[in-house]
Amino acid sequence: RAVRLADYRAPDFLIDTVHLDVNLAGPETLVVSRLRLRPNPAGRAGVPLVLDGDALRLSGTPLLDGAELDAASYAATPTAFTLHEPPADAFELTLTTKLDPAANTQLMGLYRSGSAYCTQCEAEGFRRITYFLDRPDVLSVYTVRIEADRAEAPVLLANGNPVESGDLDGNRHFAVWHDPFPKPCYLFALVGGDLAVIKDDFRTASGRHVDLAIYVEHGKEERAAYAMDALKRSMRWDEQAFGREYDLDVFNIVAVSDFNMGAMENKGLNVFNDKYVLASSETATDADYAGIESVIAHEYFHNWTGNRITCRDWFQLCLKEGLTVFRDQEFTQDMRSRPVERISDVRGLRSVQFPEDAGPFAHPVRPDTYREINNFYTATVYEKGAEVIRMLKTLIGVDAFRRGMDLYFARHDGEAATIEQFIACFAEASGHDLKQFLLWYSQAGTPEVIVTEHWDASSGTYALDIRQHIPATPGQTDKKPMVIPLAFGLLGSDGNDVDLGSDGRVKREGLIVLTSGEHRFEFRGLKERPVPSLNRNFSSPIQLKIDLSDNDLLFAARHDGDQFNCWQAMQSAMTRLLVTSAKEIREGGKPLGEPRIAEAIASVLNANDRDDAFAAQFSILPTETDLTREIGTNVDPDAIYAARRGLKEAISAQIQPSLLACYSGLADQGSYTPDAKSAGRRSLRGVALDLLVVGGGDEAIALAERQYADATNMTDRMSALASLSQVDHPVRERAFSDFAERFANEPLVLDKWFALQAAIPERGTLDRVRGLMNHPAFSMGNPNRIRSLVGGFASGNPTQFNRPDGAGYEFLADVVLELDPKNPQVAARLLGAFRSWKTLENGRRALAEQALRRINAVSPLSADVSDLVTRALA
Ligand code: ARG
Ligand code: ZN
Repeated sequence: RAVRLADYRAPDFLIDTVHLDVNLAGPETLVVSRLRLRPNPAGRAGVPLVLDGDALRLSGTPLLDGAELDAASYAATPTAFTLHEPPADAFELTLTTKLDPAANTQLMGLYRSGSAYCTQCEAEGFRRITYFLDRPDVLSVYTVRIEADRAEAPVLLANGNPVESGDLDGNRHFAVWHDPFPKPCYLFALVGGDLAVIKDDFRTASGRHVDLAIYVEHGKEERAAYAMDALKRSMRWDEQAFGREYDLDVFNIVAVSDFNMGAMENKGLNVFNDKYVLASSETATDADYAGIESVIAHEYFHNWTGNRITCRDWFQLCLKEGLTVFRDQEFTQDMRSRPVERISDVRGLRSVQFPEDAGPFAHPVRPDTYREINNFYTATVYEKGAEVIRMLKTLIGVDAFRRGMDLYFARHDGEAATIEQFIACFAEASGHDLKQFLLWYSQAGTPEVIVTEHWDASSGTYALDIRQHIPATPGQTDKKPMVIPLAFGLLGSDGNDVDLGSDGRVKREGLIVLTSGEHRFEFRGLKERPVPSLNRNFSSPIQLKIDLSDNDLLFAARHDGDQFNCWQAMQSAMTRLLVTSAKEIREGGKPLGEPRIAEAIASVLNANDRDDAFAAQFSILPTETDLTREIGTNVDPDAIYAARRGLKEAISAQIQPSLLACYSGLADQGSYTPDAKSAGRRSLRGVALDLLVVGGGDEAIALAERQYADATNMTDRMSALASLSQVDHPVRERAFSDFAERFANEPLVLDKWFALQAAIPERGTLDRVRGLMNHPAFSMGNPNRIRSLVGGFASGNPTQFNRPDGAGYEFLADVVLELDPKNPQVAARLLGAFRSWKTLENGRRALAEQALRRINAVSPLSADVSDLVTRALA
């Protein structure tokens, strides 16, 4: 039952208007849907009308143009409504379905979260509400009437603008909403419940007044203030950066606690996982505030990139997601520090997308086939998709990029578009031929760019031989060379960029563009061999392979004019050391230290003009995932952990005075603000503490204990607890118990507590996790709890998930099988932990395979889980 891009066909019918009448009444909830349909001139004539359904129950007799249909003229099953001989001209069809929202544990369609009714329709949830042409290229104008008990659901919201509301008999009331913008059904939303609200307003550049509201659980109003602030900043930024204004009279956001993903951009009515709305200094970390800012922006930006212009089909998902991630990343970079945000985005890309692209789940940014679309809301579609847009901007330049965006908005507003149509706008606006660039959308795998240098002192010629290689991925063996823009510079011994003059081979100052498998770039008239700085600011999402000496790397780490590459040089130096160290540990050796790495960190910590946020990033070692990828095959997670831990200990021991001085210079200043500068300060404080504690002395543990107890904000409290979590010490357990008591009534805070314990790199952790599944705050019904505890263990604890006895894999298989019948989407997500199982050493690999086979043998499995297990084992 695979769906293929090549099989796309225009719909045979169009739905111009939709009138929904939703009567919220517990298990007797009724949805009356009145559709104005007509044959699509671009579709096939004379075919039956087949509407999608999923677990639907038809109630009463359907009406065709107001008259009851006779039983022989239609068929209704849970998965389809068929009208055998539809009229040849426009007609009206009225269908009623009966729903039980409280029984909907998949959290797709209409369901209950807490006491509220809410919906999630992307990708294919609308068909769980009513029969419909559930595909993104069917755009309709919606009018929605909601009726509910006044006490149970005083708040009634849907897309668009409010039209009418009033009281009804029997303590009931209603509200009517109208959305003038044609939209696909995946953007439909309604909410009914007893919610508190904070309100604000916004005046758009052209003077439209917009009422803003964020709905939350009663008592949580104050915690929505930062989200509101982020929303207003997002609205202004989109006007300034992209010339995009908001287009309705109201913009509503609702925070719910049971949500499969982060948030959803329904037109005029965004529904959010409350984790991305609620924050206070006592309950949220700086990272939580940053997450709220970027998700609020992301969903808001979808109003243009996603809603006004949507996707023709789900293969084009990156058309809205990659582009919108790009936009939210640019927003965050403008709000905070450009280089630091770039570093953290690239860290994210490397830790999830690179492994995905190198393993059994690899797929192109625009996949060409799927069995379950929910499994394609991936780091590749989102984050690599954003990198592709960034490369496009680098290639054609800022001005042409903006002209291309303007053309895209002008030409495709109100349409369901494709990647080809999107790229054509940039080709036209820039005069570039972007045919080869489109390969970024169709070829999976992270390109490797292999560089060798040649220095000829006698002629002063420096040459770079650059080769590209795109690894084979499932279903794709022969790859074509891609367009790879490499921002670069050559560092002279004074630390400045060498002046390159104009060499015909260099495309633009500071930019090399690869287009074929091999290139040679020559730079003449140099006085000395420069140190190359390639792929500055991570201009392309590639693996750069160049064998620079430690001296070169440590020189670049200190002097590169591109801050991203300073960080990158340091990461490269540490990565090389750690890979060697892991190898020696497996052969019975000891972890390696490297005095110059510790010195480099100390010099950044001690610098007078220190940028705290950057210094923190600079001092964090490559992750275990980074090292796993670098090693590539026959991976032993215990050796990687030991190498990393050993280097941290060595650094800690060598530069303890600098760490202590840095730490005490960053003492808590009392009042909390979530701005980037203060957050940077706290993050560096956390990094220093973490290194001190790993050094193991009682003094350091006492420092962490004090920071934990005295903390006046969650960032400092969490960083102390996180530092303590890596030492097997009674102080750690005391802090964990204290935390549980303090925040017993704060589920989002306890998620941090679950995740931190799940990540403890000790043999006892699996039992601890099993125990925590019985904790009163844990629930298999809540996606956030599952992701924190089970996801925290499977994806955040490489040594214990990959226990050599396979118990970690068996545990995950048990949870996946238990969850699958209730919430297949969340069950399938957990399987992401197996994305690199084939790179493991033989023993673990066999055990991982055994767990995957055990899942695969169960019947029935959801399409979500069976699709992933099949691909994992292929
Ligand atoms: N469009 C949403 C976003 O990017 C994600 C919704 C995905 N939902 C799903 N059930 N697959 O913000
Ligand atoms: Zn999105």
